Amino acid sequence: MKIYITRKIPPIAEVLLKKNGFEVDSYKKDRPITKEELIKNVKTIDGLISLLTDKINKEIIDAMPGCKVIANYAVGYNNIDASYAKSKGIVVTNTPDILTDATADLAVTLLLAAARRIIEGDNMMRQNKFEGWKPQLLTGVDVRNKTIGILGAGRIGTAFAKRMSGFDANILYYDFVPDKQIEEIYEGKKVSLNTLLKKSDFISIHLPLTPDTYHLLNKEKLQMLKSSAVLINTARGEIIDEKELIKVLKGKKIFAAGFDVYENEPAVNKELYKLNNVVLLPHIGSATIGTRSKMAELAAKNVIAVLKNKKPLTAV
Ligand code: DGY
Repeated sequence: MKIYITRKIPPIAEVLLKKNGFEVDSYKKDRPITKEELIKNVKTIDGLISLLTDKINKEIIDAMPGCKVIANYAVGYNNIDASYAKSKGIVVTNTPDILTDATADLAVTLLLAAARRIIEGDNMMRQNKFEGWKPQLLTGVDVRNKTIGILGAGRIGTAFAKRMSGFDANILYYDFVPDKQIEEIYEGKKVSLNTLLKKSDFISIHLPLTPDTYHLLNKEKLQMLKSSAVLINTARGEIIDEKELIKVLKGKKIFAAGFDVYENEPAVNKELYKLNNVVLLPHIGSATIGTRSKMAELAAKNVIAVLKNKKPLTAV
């Protein structure tokens, strides 16, 4: 049976697949595969390992009639038409759990960097502009004892709560269902979206992208934020109306924002480059050597399980 991998990922995936008797081919160029290239390469495959940069829509699914499993190398799977895949009998899997810590760590990193103006400080040093200690040099906002608003109390949101509880945070969260762990261990309180936005000093997004969460933070919601607020997004760019957020940041209506994801990735709104009150990262939430390797391993194990008629480890 044939497996296609849409880009170079850690070698463990290919090793495992080959060990289990599969034929493996992968896209060799260091850029996302085009639609045409994908269609050409998947015609006779039994399983696909896809990336979040691949749009696996009806056209692609129809182009691989023998495919039984699409293993996404990401926890988010908004790039896949999962219901169409299901209607065709294809199992879709993702890579939850193993990237939780890395992503929660990065959310905290962004929060601290934005609150303490780390990028401005680093730029000042590199431009040789440091004139010595000054009482008001790059003063940021305190992090301890603040109200933290978590949008999405899933695995990553909960891991973020755990980290922020170390800063004696008062935790608020917004989700459809109550989360026992956040409530019982970290004393978090479930609130409405509006309450969370109005009361939080730091807001971190940990929701999946769905039709319901697209532009959840629109103009009206962004205007509810405190003028001292810091907004962090390590989930999906489309959850925030980015143009509106840029207006808010330009007008200094909030203190700062930390971005790991963008509305039109890989395109970045150039206005962001002009702002001092943002920290900009290139979608590296899960980017640790260990985590990326575990993601490759899990994706391969999911493919192997489905093609050997076993239960996939992490079907969506
Ligand atoms: C994901 O897994 O969805 C992240 O965005 C990339 O690891």
